Amino acid sequence: MDVAAPSLAPAAAHKLRAADPCAFVIFGAAGDLTKRLLLPALYNLAAGKLLPEGFAIVGVARAEMADDEFRRHMAEALRRFATDGIDPRTLDDLIGRCRYVRGDFDDGATYDRLKACLREVARGAGTHDNCLFYLATPPDFFAPIACHLGEAGLAGAPEGAWRRLIVEKPFGFDLQSACALNKKLLGCFAEDQIYRIDHYLGKETVQNIMVLRFANGMFEPIWNRHHIDHVQITVTETVSVENRGKLYDRTGALRDMVPNHLFQLLALTAMEPPSRFDAGAVRSAKLDALEAIRPLSDADIAADVVRGQYGAGRVKGKMLPAYREAPGVARESVTETYVAMRLAIDNWRWAGVPFYLRTGKALAARKTEIAIKFRTAPLALFRDMPVESLAQNLLVLRIQPDEGAALHFNAKIPGPEIRIENVRMNFKYEDYFDAAPSTGYETLIYDCMVGDPMLFQRAVDIEAGWRVVDPILKAWRNDDGRDLCTYAAGSDGPAQAQELLAHSGRQWRAIA
Ligand code: BG6
Repeated sequence: MDVAAPSLAPAAAHKLRAADPCAFVIFGAAGDLTKRLLLPALYNLAAGKLLPEGFAIVGVARAEMADDEFRRHMAEALRRFATDGIDPRTLDDLIGRCRYVRGDFDDGATYDRLKACLREVARGAGTHDNCLFYLATPPDFFAPIACHLGEAGLAGAPEGAWRRLIVEKPFGFDLQSACALNKKLLGCFAEDQIYRIDHYLGKETVQNIMVLRFANGMFEPIWNRHHIDHVQITVTETVSVENRGKLYDRTGALRDMVPNHLFQLLALTAMEPPSRFDAGAVRSAKLDALEAIRPLSDADIAADVVRGQYGAGRVKGKMLPAYREAPGVARESVTETYVAMRLAIDNWRWAGVPFYLRTGKALAARKTEIAIKFRTAPLALFRDMPVESLAQNLLVLRIQPDEGAALHFNAKIPGPEIRIENVRMNFKYEDYFDAAPSTGYETLIYDCMVGDPMLFQRAVDIEAGWRVVDPILKAWRNDDGRDLCTYAAGSDGPAQAQELLAHSGRQWRAIA
């Protein structure tokens, strides 16, 4: 008897209802994140009829400003940063819902004013006393704001209402500080109220990794050490540190990108199929994958981790001065702007399959992709023919730009003899789907409003990421950048990164 396979509803289908009524409170309302991303994302949600009728935006920041002035600033920001054309009625409606509370984040009086404002909007705007607190501030304020909200009685919701806290990146500076921050937040909010953001999880193509793996029958049977030779995860950027030099010089590429964005890509690639498509099962499966990464010893770090810093060079035709010349960067800085590493995942699926990761700034191209290289087919069949070597099959998931996926395989060149060439089947999102205008924050904000935490990280998930990179940070802390390599801006990165793969006969895919 044939058994029908369970069908998976289209990813967006469950999202068609408007979100729950709420007040969207933004700490750091005058900042860049609010103007460039949050507000345009809220506008897109409003245009898609996904915002609730009972909705208010409450901005909190230091500047002295009346509601009207705040509204004017928000309208200007929206006109400037909207991802698509602006409909004046939607704009007016959204801006009309804005309120402003002035105050320092570490002053208790700010929270008294906020409380009064939230009482008003609960009555006037019909927010049902649901509140979403968005920490769009520098990280030093995350814990103080959460504690003040707790002390003001704002973390706990009245019967039938909810309170949620969205925390931006960076979450901690290393394992110890991430644990300390978790402890402080968890002293004021419960774990299920805290939504820790990794904006990579808001990207459609990142979410699609799960669909590709688990909604297709053909990949999963070969998604393991019996068929896969190795995996390459690449996140390269052409941008330099621009005007973030001061902050970046204390951060570096490893902290900035690896325990968060690259590990999200790794976890989605390496995880076991979750038993259900829900937040608990998916996050646990990802956590298991991260926890299976083999801890790095000092010897592993010396052999398997490469760090680089860009020197002067030409990026996309324009001359870029060396990292050490960037504003805010120490002239003798040994901060890495590039990192590459080999990781092993110690479980039955991945034993013996290296995962190579690399990320860097000021490189030849902007590219985020996951490349799965399969084992070579046995050559025996073609031994008497002029076939020198068979290329390995390759599946490339292009996260950005040029979103899509490509499968590389061998095909016969037409003609009387057997000659083989590597060919490519290419899927491009744009050929099949219309992309809705998006900042990448819409799904994340919407999910938080409806209480779906699947795309957010729990304390344990954050700590698992830091646990892997912490030994590297420790090893580098006191070594004066001994093994820091330099690469020319606009290049593929340091030559030493090639050696990570070369000694096992492998090579990185070209960036550009
Ligand atoms: C941020 C990093 O988290 O991600 C930046 O702090 C980096 O340094 C950015 O440029 C990359 O994000 P995206 O979405 O452009 O790949």
